[in-house]
Amino acid sequence: MKRLSPKYQGRLEFLESPRYILFGPGAIEKSAETLMALGISGKALIVTGGPKTEKIAWKLGEALEQEGHPFHLFRIGEGEPTPRVVEGAAEAARREGCSFVVAVGGGRALDVGKLASHWVGMKYLSVPTSASHDGMASPSVGFLLSRAVSEYRGPEWARPESPTAVIADTEVIKNAPDWTMRAGFGDLIAKFTAVRDWELAHRLKDEPYSEYAASMSLLSARLAVEHAGDLKPGLEESVRLLVKALIGSGVAISIAGSSRPASGSEHLFSHAIDLLSQREGVSRAPHGIQCGLGAIMMAYLQGQDWRMIRSKLEEAGAPITAREAGLDPEVVVRALTLAHRVRDRYTILGETGLTESAARKLAERTGVI
Ligand SMILES: NC(=O)c1ccc[n+]([C@@H]2O[C@H](COP(=O)([O-])OP(=O)(O)OC[C@H]3O[C@@H](n4cnc5c(N)ncnc54)[C@H](OP(=O)(O)O)[C@@H]3O)[C@@H](O)[C@H]2O)c1
Ligand SMILES: [Zn+2]
Repeated sequence: MKRLSPKYQGRLEFLESPRYILFGPGAIEKSAETLMALGISGKALIVTGGPKTEKIAWKLGEALEQEGHPFHLFRIGEGEPTPRVVEGAAEAARREGCSFVVAVGGGRALDVGKLASHWVGMKYLSVPTSASHDGMASPSVGFLLSRAVSEYRGPEWARPESPTAVIADTEVIKNAPDWTMRAGFGDLIAKFTAVRDWELAHRLKDEPYSEYAASMSLLSARLAVEHAGDLKPGLEESVRLLVKALIGSGVAISIAGSSRPASGSEHLFSHAIDLLSQREGVSRAPHGIQCGLGAIMMAYLQGQDWRMIRSKLEEAGAPITAREAGLDPEVVVRALTLAHRVRDRYTILGETGLTESAARKLAERTGVI
């Protein structure tokens, strides 16, 4: 658990990022070679999601076993992961005598594997099976889990290290559900508003800012936007591009030592919907879809080209209205008024946020509701 805080310490900076990134068709079959290159030996705890990703996890386990790495499979089950699920994975790693953790699946499985490895002090390998958001290469976990772990054990336990390696098999990822690519695109276009918020917080609140991390995050967003019309589910080249951009964004988070380059007011809006969903059971959409809608509206507030963001989302086949995303327009308005309070992060929403009438006008003017 003891490590340097990746924050700026006077003039001393500490950067942490994945050491090994392997992506392309058939990458999973090369997992054992990756372990050898990293000097990792022994038994693996493989954390996986539900029935679809479990099959992929077995394939990886068998590839490892053939090369002398036994494995134990831990399924996280249904629903949003909780600290108890992470604890279950950490206990399994200890009990089974594992020496490293590999997570295989969507964002839920990766978050559990990432935290469990942090809790037991083992190396972590990330094997994403979809391109739905940038958590595959980052040292951060989803908002609800991070919040729950902070309350349960303290904030340090919700801040894992970056993965030691990312193994992204594009043949596998291209077979993920179609919406995952649209969500990944939404999470990437959100970097335009996130970086603008970060600059604002730097200027108004003197928050530490890394031009390098900000540029890298914007580069990922630009890469996605330039190819918005080429993103076709099931196409290896499309998946490759998206994965490259998402890994770039995850590395930008690693370099900054904070999710600041990747997450601003548009993410606060998405988190607010997630909280409303958790507390009141209202429907929500995938993370990146919500962030895409948030980016349209926050770009309007920031005076950025919100029409470009909207048209690129449309070109990529991602929702640009609450209804298309399966969200209740009233929930969108409420989330806009709550967003500034969901976490301590200064953004264009300021300290007092939006009034209900301003929120409604914003959502209407940008066509989100
Ligand atoms: N770390 C971060 O920074 C970060 C950022 C945003 C969100 N998150 C977290 O990530 C989670 C959401 O991630 P997600 O949208 O990827 O959801 P998910 O629930 O992990 O995956 C969504 C669905 O896609 C399926 N799937 C994934 N890969 C597949 C493949 N290759 N073939 C067929 N089906 C496949 C999964 O199958 P199974 O049912 O078999 O698993 C699952 O049913 C949330 O918990 C969120 O809080 C984390
Ligand atoms: Zn995100």
